[in-house]
This record gives sequence, C-alpha cells and structure tokens, in this order.
Amino acid sequence: MDIQSASTEQLQQWADTLNAEYDAIKAKKLNLDLTRGKPSAEQLSLSDALDGILKGSYQSEDGTDVRNYGGLDGIPAARKLGADMLGAPASNVIAGGNSSLTLMHQAVTIAYLFGLTGADSAWKNAEKVSFICPVPGYDRHFSVCEHLGIHMIPAPMTADGPDMDAVEALIAEDTSIRGMWCVPRFSNPTGVVYSDDTVERIAALGKKAHADFRVFWDNAYAVHQLDDAAPALANIWDAAEKAGTQDSILQFASTSKITFAGAGVAFLAASDANLTGIRKALGFVTIGPDKVNQLRHARFFAEPESLAQHMKKHAEIIKPRFESVLTRLEAAFGDNDLGRWESAQGGYFISFDTRPGLAKEVVRLAAEAGVKLTPAGATFPYGNDPEDSNIRIAPTVPTVPQVDEAMEVFVTCVPCQRSPGLESISTSALRATRLWHAMHISLNSVPSFLRLRPTQLYSSSTYSHSCLNFRATTYAS
Ligand SMILES: Cc1ncc(COP(=O)(O)O)c(C=O)c1O
Repeated sequence: MDIQSASTEQLQQWADTLNAEYDAIKAKKLNLDLTRGKPSAEQLSLSDALDGILKGSYQSEDGTDVRNYGGLDGIPAARKLGADMLGAPASNVIAGGNSSLTLMHQAVTIAYLFGLTGADSAWKNAEKVSFICPVPGYDRHFSVCEHLGIHMIPAPMTADGPDMDAVEALIAEDTSIRGMWCVPRFSNPTGVVYSDDTVERIAALGKKAHADFRVFWDNAYAVHQLDDAAPALANIWDAAEKAGTQDSILQFASTSKITFAGAGVAFLAASDANLTGIRKALGFVTIGPDKVNQLRHARFFAEPESLAQHMKKHAEIIKPRFESVLTRLEAAFGDNDLGRWESAQGGYFISFDTRPGLAKEVVRLAAEAGVKLTPAGATFPYGNDPEDSNIRIAPTVPTVPQVDEAMEVFVTCVPCQRSPGLESISTSALRATRLWHAMHISLNSVPSFLRLRPTQLYSSSTYSHSCLNFRATTYAS
C-alpha cells in the first residue's frame, strides 16, 4: 500500500490487518532470537575434526614442542594462516589466543598507556583521545573505546565504506583523533565491502593524521563470502606500503567464525615498528599463546584450498538464512518506503533502517511478540543512534524455519510504531498508522534540523538521504 496516498479507510483497513496479525503472532508465544552473530551448531560441527587431529604429534614444523611455554609470535604455520587471511607477510603477523577482540583491546591499551613506538607516542600524553567510528558499526569496538575513556566520533558509512570526505575532514580539523575502526569486508552490520578507492584513501590517512594515529583494520569477515561473486577487498598492506604509511595500520582477524568461535586463533598484522612495541608489552601479559590449538588449526587447514572449501560449507549453511530474511523484507517493504536494508554477499548480518524514530519501538514490539533483536542503538557509539532507525539482524543461529518465523514477526512490527502509553497493539494500530501517515507528511514538510539531531557528520539528514543512502542488491540477484 502507498501510505502517502492512502485514504483514511485504507489506513483503517491496514491498521485492522496489522492488529490481527500482531495478535495472532503474540498468541503463538514464540521464543526466537536474532541477536548476536554467532555460528550455529551446524557450522561449528564443520570443524569437529580439530578435536584429536594432532594424534599425539605435538611438534610444529620448526621443531617446537607446542605443549610447552614460549613463542610469543605463535608458530610459523599459524602465522602463515593469518598472513594469508590478512594479505600481510607472515613475518609481520602474530598468531595469538582465541580472540581478535582481545588483541584489539590490547593494542588500543598498549597504544594508550605505553605507546606503540616508544613512551613519547603514548596517547595518554594527549589531553583528549578520539576515535573515528563508522556508523552503523560493531558495538564491541565502541565498548573498547568506552572502557578506555576514548571519545568516539561517528562517521557515516556509504556503499563504498566510510564516507572518506567526512573522515578526511575530521582528521584535518580534530587533532585529538588517534584511531579509526574499520571492518573492511562484509562490515558489521552493513555488509559493505570497502571499495578500492576507500582502501587507498584509508591507507593514505597516515600522511594526514597525527603521527600516532592508527587504523584498526578488523578483517573479521575476510573469507566469509556467501558466493563466489562476492567482491574482493583491496590489500591494505600493499596500499600502505605504496603510500609509505605502514605504521598507521594495525590489522586483525581470527578463525572464530571459521572453526570454533570460542576456541579459534586470532591474528594481528603490523609494521616492524608497531610489532616491537606490541611484543614488548605482550611479554608482560603472557609467556606465549595456546600453540597446541594453533597447530591443530595449521593441520586442519594444511592444504592450499582447504580454507576456501571449508568456507563454502559455511556459506551453504548460512545462505538460506540470509535468503529467508531478504525474502521477507522484500515482500513486506520492496514496494514501499517503510524500511530499507543492506544485504551483503557475506558476513553475518543484515542491517535494516526503519523510518527515523522507530527502531527502539520495533525492537520492543518484536520482543513482546517473542523475537529478541539486538537493542536499537547498539550499532552506534554510546548506544545512541541519532535517527533511532538502525536495527541489526543476525540470522545465523536459528534454523531456516525459525528465521522465517522471526522475520514474519519483524516485518509485522516495523509498521507498528511508537505510541506512548501503548498497552497492546490492538488499541493502537490505527493510531499508529495515522501517526505514521502524519509523520510521513511532516517528514516532508519540517526543516531537516528538526528531523535529526545535528550530530557530527550527518550532513545528509533526511530519511531519504540517510547516512546509508543506498539500497544494496540482494545477493540472490
Ligand atoms: C567485526 C568483528 N570483529 C571481531 C569480532 C570478534 O572476534 P573474535 O571472536 O576473534 O574476538 C566480531 C564478532 O562478532 C566481529 O563482528
């Protein structure tokens, strides 16, 4: 239905239908969860052969007994695995414990307290330390900043990655900026793959920013494509080498969403200068990582094609879940402007935007109807989505029928909107639709500064030009 031109009778009818649908859904007393991006049990089982793979042989190829202490950098075969994923020389890769988030937290902490290239480079020497945070983004990146008291500055995402004009302008005008988060391939949550030009411009930031500025290049989904046609990512190591900015890039990845999410291997790639600082500080933290697990992974992915083949099996499991989400979204919102979404050709998420001001309410309505969603706002620093419109959908854990059922609830909740004092949808659906109608009109008639808090870089602040001003194609098409 075209809401803009609908008559009151049509709106009334639609409200009645919505009302009935929502009540029917609530009566089912569902208990479904589309919150965190975790691998399903089926995916985890793809790696069960890790268990017992060593068969009593504990020597890595350089003769190290992996059961013993030592080897801060990790074993060579694990470093090679990380190097292949990150596109960096193995000699510049550290293979660590099970979590890249830990490595990221440690790298930020080291840079903050001790300096990556000596005490003079410690961020704590500055009056204020800020990070550029492309939004929507990964909530745990933002938590790292919050934990260490680092000020966060949102920058809009586009279909090509962070809006680089905005990022460069920020860097030019704000001398407190010391870092920037990036999830360059299949971004969390938008699924965007950074364009070649964006990668080049990010690599060049080291020439424009403060000498102690670092890009935190979190390539968590480096090999997580859903089909072969998925776009490749330009190599940031090479781009930084060309630009002479190697010291400005810290890269991260892990096998968390490749093998076991709780028992994988994490990687950090950095320039020699950065690695000197990181090794020095890590030496106080550990005598060495879990090399037994590293060897298990090295054996598991011993053949050149084994990682790619393994990821194809993941894609076979995940893809129908993504398709289920996209089919529901397309059916519900393909012919109207009640919501927009980006769907990726890889990664773990689908990012959905309601009209401004509605995301929290949609999440609340869905929860009441038995579908848990990541809290609205989580994809923004300080949990503050200025438009209150972004919702992250994580469909990997539920089964395909469960995803479908959850999405049926979701698409019913999206048009049901904020209605203060709401007791049940049945009393409010019409009101909601009228408000909706009114809101649409008002959106087109009020000045833009009333529609959106004038936060940071939201230069394009109307709904129709939201910070995610594109509608990505579905991977099926
Ligand atoms: C972008 C991103 N980085 C890092 C992680 C966590 O990685 P790890 O399990 O290696 O700590 C996640 C998990 O969802 C993620 O989405």
